[in-house]
Amino acid sequence: MAAADFPMMTTAEIRSAFLTFFEERGCKLFPSSSLIPDDPSLLLANAGMNQFKAYYQGSKTMREIGATSCQKCVRTNDIDIIGSDGRHASFFEMLGNFSFGGVSKEQACSWALELSTQVFHLPIERLYFTVFTDDDETYDIWRKLGVEESHISRLGEDDNFWAAGPTGPCGPCSEIYYDQGEDVGCGRPDCAPGCDCDRFLEYWNLVFTQFDRQEDGSMPELPHRNLDTGMGLERMSAIMQHKSSFYDSDIMQGLIKLGEDISGVTYVGDDYTGASRSLRIIADHARSVDFMISDGILPGNEGRGYVLRRLLRRAVFHGRLIGIEGAFLTRFIDRVNELMGDAYPELLKNAALVKGIVSAEEDRFSTTLDNGRVYLDEALAGLGDGEELAGSAAFMLHDTFGFPIDLTVEIAEAAGHGVDIDGFNREMEAQRERARANVKGDAWGSFNNIWSELADTLPATLFCGYEDDVLEDARVLAIVRDGERVAAAAAGEDVEVVLDRAPFYAEMGGQVGDTGTLAGEGLAATVSDTQNRGGIYALCVHVDKGTLAEGATVCASVDHHRRELLRRNHTATHLLDAALKEVLGDHVNQAGSLVTPDHLRFDFTHFDALTTDEIRAVEGLVNREIFAAKPVVTQEMGIDEAKAAGAIALFGEKYGERVRVVSVGTEEHPFSRELCGGTHARNTAEIGLFRIVSESSTGSNVRRIEAVASEGAVAYLEGRARIAEDAAAVLKCRVDEVPERIGALNQTLCATEQKLKAALTGGSSDAIAQAIDAARDLGAYKLVIARLSGLEAADLRNVWDTVRQKVAGPVACVLATVTEKGQPALLAGATDEAVSAGFKAGDIIKKIAPLVGGGGGGRPTMAQAGGKNAAGIDDALAAAERELGL
Ligand code: SER
Repeated sequence: MAAADFPMMTTAEIRSAFLTFFEERGCKLFPSSSLIPDDPSLLLANAGMNQFKAYYQGSKTMREIGATSCQKCVRTNDIDIIGSDGRHASFFEMLGNFSFGGVSKEQACSWALELSTQVFHLPIERLYFTVFTDDDETYDIWRKLGVEESHISRLGEDDNFWAAGPTGPCGPCSEIYYDQGEDVGCGRPDCAPGCDCDRFLEYWNLVFTQFDRQEDGSMPELPHRNLDTGMGLERMSAIMQHKSSFYDSDIMQGLIKLGEDISGVTYVGDDYTGASRSLRIIADHARSVDFMISDGILPGNEGRGYVLRRLLRRAVFHGRLIGIEGAFLTRFIDRVNELMGDAYPELLKNAALVKGIVSAEEDRFSTTLDNGRVYLDEALAGLGDGEELAGSAAFMLHDTFGFPIDLTVEIAEAAGHGVDIDGFNREMEAQRERARANVKGDAWGSFNNIWSELADTLPATLFCGYEDDVLEDARVLAIVRDGERVAAAAAGEDVEVVLDRAPFYAEMGGQVGDTGTLAGEGLAATVSDTQNRGGIYALCVHVDKGTLAEGATVCASVDHHRRELLRRNHTATHLLDAALKEVLGDHVNQAGSLVTPDHLRFDFTHFDALTTDEIRAVEGLVNREIFAAKPVVTQEMGIDEAKAAGAIALFGEKYGERVRVVSVGTEEHPFSRELCGGTHARNTAEIGLFRIVSESSTGSNVRRIEAVASEGAVAYLEGRARIAEDAAAVLKCRVDEVPERIGALNQTLCATEQKLKAALTGGSSDAIAQAIDAARDLGAYKLVIARLSGLEAADLRNVWDTVRQKVAGPVACVLATVTEKGQPALLAGATDEAVSAGFKAGDIIKKIAPLVGGGGGGRPTMAQAGGKNAAGIDDALAAAERELGL
């Protein structure tokens, strides 16, 4: 790169200079939003403007003239290029300033030029500007600000029209480029901004956001002429550190150096292939992985979980390519945290969690990689020169070994082969078809034909039970008995019944179905469950009296008390969700739930067992909300409005245009706000009390809490109290004395056990005294052989000590016992003199242990063995005698 003469700045200095510049000019500073966008049309945050969508669309306004931020972004559309040039990455930080009618185009351009030349001191001769084809207005603005004609060019839609996604705010843009000099890039004489090479580096994009693209492609004007500018921080760092590649700037170098240390390979800044490319890929992907997981994304097989898994696996794979053996990725996480934790404290807060997930995923993938690699290498070895790897082989690697297709392509290419991508895609499509067919098969299996027929012919059941438990005039639309539609059901029959409107809640979103009664002239029937069958509610009905006929009008009543309990438990579940997020972090996502009248269950993403303190903190928060008697408010609104109001949506759940939002607490600061169709308490005070009963794991990274609330909590605590009272009765003390009593009993028990042991193994034991009396004098030493009872293997050592103390002079022993569990245990021991005289404890045990079905050995002075066959003890002792020549 041609020598630059402006002062250098670190990434942190650039970040802070940019934000301060715009704050000083009246823009409000916003923190980066999470990488999980609050926008269903977007997989991952990919631009600074994402979090301002509602402002562009006019549903939110701000007092200030605009906003500024430094946004975490992930883009993977260029994943193949990453590492092969100096300006693409999957993770990057975007500095931006935004305005929603408060800043003119002219002002925006003038600020951009001022910041570039006065704060960053970039020489204007090196700056180049592009404008959208026919955007004369912006062209004139740049000219008026002093930019030479030769430094402004017009580019088309591909380069100079910007949209965050297929729909939403978009508009023409103007980009600012820094000329790195002729020696960087393609060297063609006509090289200019927009060329694919690295010479002209686009560092700032000024989007004049004025349209709102719709699903049908139309582009109505937005309420204001808006502004959305984005400066790539990494690119700016390269410029400000006089480097032609941002991988050579401070933060990325910190990561690449680590890669060099771990692998031993050397990084070459202008080599865009081989090991240097791999080092860049690992450095880049490690940042994405760290930021994504710390924002609550987990590796998975679809959506953003899949993006994460691919990046993580690709990093691991490139580690292998450059010869790194074993797990290494968590070291990169540590390094990213060192380099970026100041600016993004969430990295530090979630470090343990991120490292746990990374290392589990890395381990799993390493095994996969080893197995898949064997398969792939064999397949590649079987190919002729220039022959492609079959699509079926690539599919097999994907399906069985979890190899992302780009990894297969990469390995195949390294071996000089292409991959039949069309064939691979055909196999993938065939698999999707099979999956669809299976789902259909299952659906038809459990979804009895009659119900699909009813769903086609009857209107969806209208649920009218949010407020009322009783509906006086429900009409019976259909009756189904044993899968057949019937006109009527007589007393004693069990049928399923469809009403036109139902106060009964059908099992959904974890809340179990309602029960109750149907009544009419001469009719009494019991409803034992309600299920939703494709929008039609099926009531499980037993006719107690009279006849239930299609077309009849009945009074439908929900079991009021049971429903009240369900309401309370459902609201308690929302409180629990919010409390878990507060105590554990935003990575907590609901993974499943069950709300029954007497208890509730909540599954959620988290990586470790909760500590007792965490459980108490969660429980405390929920109870705090209950005791504060907060109103529970349900509102209907548009999905966008709901999300903008911060309502929690279930991950992966599809919602309609109109949604129901359940909030606990004040409008401004709700403790909990969720999209939910269930029935709820009107005020948290109705819940009365909440208690966590258990916390466990349900599989990788998903924890489960079982809890009770309201009457369930009282019943649970009463049960506990009763246990304590029963214990007190047995101990003949007061309840509050129970722990102390048990402690004292325990102590007494231990002391007694010790005394017993001493009695059984010490000199006062009759059995041992008799054995010692019967000791045989073998001249050089005395021999004690004894079969004892009621002792454990370890006790035999004490017996040997006793024998040594009681028998004067050289002594040896062979002892046996049957333990409490019925297993034999043997011990041989000898004083040094006895050993010198030929008694080798280890040899004896080795000889006799097989007779009790065991093995063992030891030193000449002491050896022990266990076994399985207690019946062999006498034989073992006899064998010992024979061994000693007795
Ligand atoms: N949204 C534009 C971009 O991402 C400018 O901020 O380039």
